[in-house]
Amino acid sequence: MKRTSIYAIPLLLIGIAAAVAATHLPDKPVIVARQSSMKEMAAAARQIAGMFGGKIAYDAPAFRQAAETIHRRTGVLAAEFPADSLGSPSAAKQEIDQSRDEFDALASHIATLASALAVEADKAPADSISSAMRMGPDMAMGGSLLGKRAGAAKEADPSKLPAEHLLHLILQDCTSCHAKFRAKVQ
Ligand code: HEC
Repeated sequence: MKRTSIYAIPLLLIGIAAAVAATHLPDKPVIVARQSSMKEMAAAARQIAGMFGGKIAYDAPAFRQAAETIHRRTGVLAAEFPADSLGSPSAAKQEIDQSRDEFDALASHIATLASALAVEADKAPADSISSAMRMGPDMAMGGSLLGKRAGAAKEADPSKLPAEHLLHLILQDCTSCHAKFRAKVQ
């Protein structure tokens, strides 16, 4: 067996490459569309996180555009998963259809947060990230959740939260949904 492995490995790799290609080139347009929508959201979220983290230079129009992308994409998310598009070759699990209420609730929750983020982004200063955009105990926002200490952060009114806090809650929703409704591809 060991001696044949020099041939077996390239064949195996071709097999894997074909399987990966099949996973990434699904034929249904709805699958292609939602996967590219997800990738766009991921790029936008990375950009905003990078600006908050100081890894990407702050740029107000780019910040706004990224927030708008997440807003727009999350707004149509629930409709992007019709029952006949679930399962292989897509990573969207069949469970989406069995737990439609839970899936839709997650999609609607992230859309609400993203809508609030887009509003905050519209108010973002031109030159630098303001302290009001950041989350933390030293926030200068009078009506903030942390100032009021009113209940769990998740249930707070999103329109009262600073942009950075909204981003964190949005990323939590990405992760929650993937944990339950997205199959591990690799
Ligand atoms: C309500 C559920 C849900 C939410 C919320 C959600 N996703 Fe997804 N995401 C999925 C599912 C299901 C798939 C698998 C789609 C498929 O393969 O057809 C997926 C796939 C992806 C992919 C892989 C796309 C590809 O090329 O195959 C990325 C990247 C991604 N999501 C990023 C995000 C980010 C970033 C967020 C948050 C801003 C997010 N998702 C929010 C359900 C969700």
